[in-house]
Amino acid sequence: MTDSTPNSPALVDRLALIGGAGTNKVMAGELSRLVKRAFDAVRLPEPKKEGQGAVLYPFQREVAALAVNHHRTSSRVLWDLYESPARRLEPLYDDLLAAVLAETRPWLRDGLTFSIHPGATHEFPAGGRQLVGVLKNALIDAAAQRGIQLRVKVDDPDLHFVVRCTETHTVASLDLAGQSMNLRGYRTDGGGAAPLRETLAATVLFLSRYDARTEVLVDPMAGSGTLAIEGACLAQARPVWVPPRVPVAAHMPMFADLFSKAPTPLFEDTRPVIFANELDQRTHSGSRANMARAGVANFIETNCGDFRQLSPDAIRRIATARGYGTESGLIVCNPPYGERLAPSALLGLYRDLGIWCRRFPGWRAGFIVANPEFEVAFGGLPRIKKPLSNANLRGYFYLYDL
Ligand SMILES: C[S@@+](CC[C@H](N)C(=O)[O-])C[C@H]1O[C@@H](n2cnc3c(N)ncnc32)[C@H](O)[C@@H]1O
Repeated sequence: MTDSTPNSPALVDRLALIGGAGTNKVMAGELSRLVKRAFDAVRLPEPKKEGQGAVLYPFQREVAALAVNHHRTSSRVLWDLYESPARRLEPLYDDLLAAVLAETRPWLRDGLTFSIHPGATHEFPAGGRQLVGVLKNALIDAAAQRGIQLRVKVDDPDLHFVVRCTETHTVASLDLAGQSMNLRGYRTDGGGAAPLRETLAATVLFLSRYDARTEVLVDPMAGSGTLAIEGACLAQARPVWVPPRVPVAAHMPMFADLFSKAPTPLFEDTRPVIFANELDQRTHSGSRANMARAGVANFIETNCGDFRQLSPDAIRRIATARGYGTESGLIVCNPPYGERLAPSALLGLYRDLGIWCRRFPGWRAGFIVANPEFEVAFGGLPRIKKPLSNANLRGYFYLYDL
């Protein structure tokens, strides 16, 4: 790893996992689990934190490939290449130009095309568009000075750059997925009424401390099935991408050896037991299709109906038949937050959810809800309450001991 070199102080060499606000611990915990399972000889140092939603590691090719193939709680997996403290465009251009002139890493080759995606750039006074322009010019100009041609291409470029601003620096990176890690490829149906982002669903399961080896997982209002699918995928540490989707790093010659074989689940022996219930028939059918595409339909029992009619004993019977205990388990859910229901019906639904969940004494229940009235209607005191937003909906994660 080179955190800076005498040639250009703007050169850095880091793996950055970018996620939602408040997800640093979860992202680091997941990467640590993956690395421990995948490698005997790789040591993962404690990450540096960048704000509320980014963890940084010294760049190691194997770990980067593992992350872009398997890491479910990050929304971007980046290889940080350059950073500059400059807050004005001209000195930023100079720093980036010097860094690309000093570049020795094998990603830079003649004839490549690239695009630049603006990440979080609100800290930069001149704004995101200018930042993209400066990085573009520095890349093309420095490469040209070295006799290398780089060209911008918006659709399907060879390289996907991301530029983001921290409190102190502008950082230019290669996006190793080349797309949001949410675009896993199993949810193609539009996903029911209000689908949860896949990375957020994985985060909710981590925050709820889902242990697939000992616990049954139940989502009583499953929509397109995201929590159930992510639960099954996390249980087996399955690859993030559903074929034919692949991360862009798979096409980069410098990673070719690491992507020569299709990635496989890291915990294939874990056979999770998951139950997903959904009221709406069309959404329920869509969820079945999503589960099949994700390759986890075998692990998920589904039911179409009102959760209030679901008997806890029926769920316990399924658990017992599959060799799982029923003294503990995990209910997770992303209940409706009010778009389609009258306020009184919604509060009634939250209240009924509280009553239903308490028929599982000894279990835990984790919720992500973008409605501040949930807590009072559900009743009791959460063990954990933490801000967690779904897209632009401000919400909370709650964890209850039942
Ligand atoms: C916010 S959505 C859940 C989205 C889901 N997490 C996903 O990622 O697709 C809430 C779901 O609860 C379902 N629902 C509402 N009332 C229900 C009830 N009484 N029983 C079962 N499902 C219900 C709705 O049809 C909707 O699909």
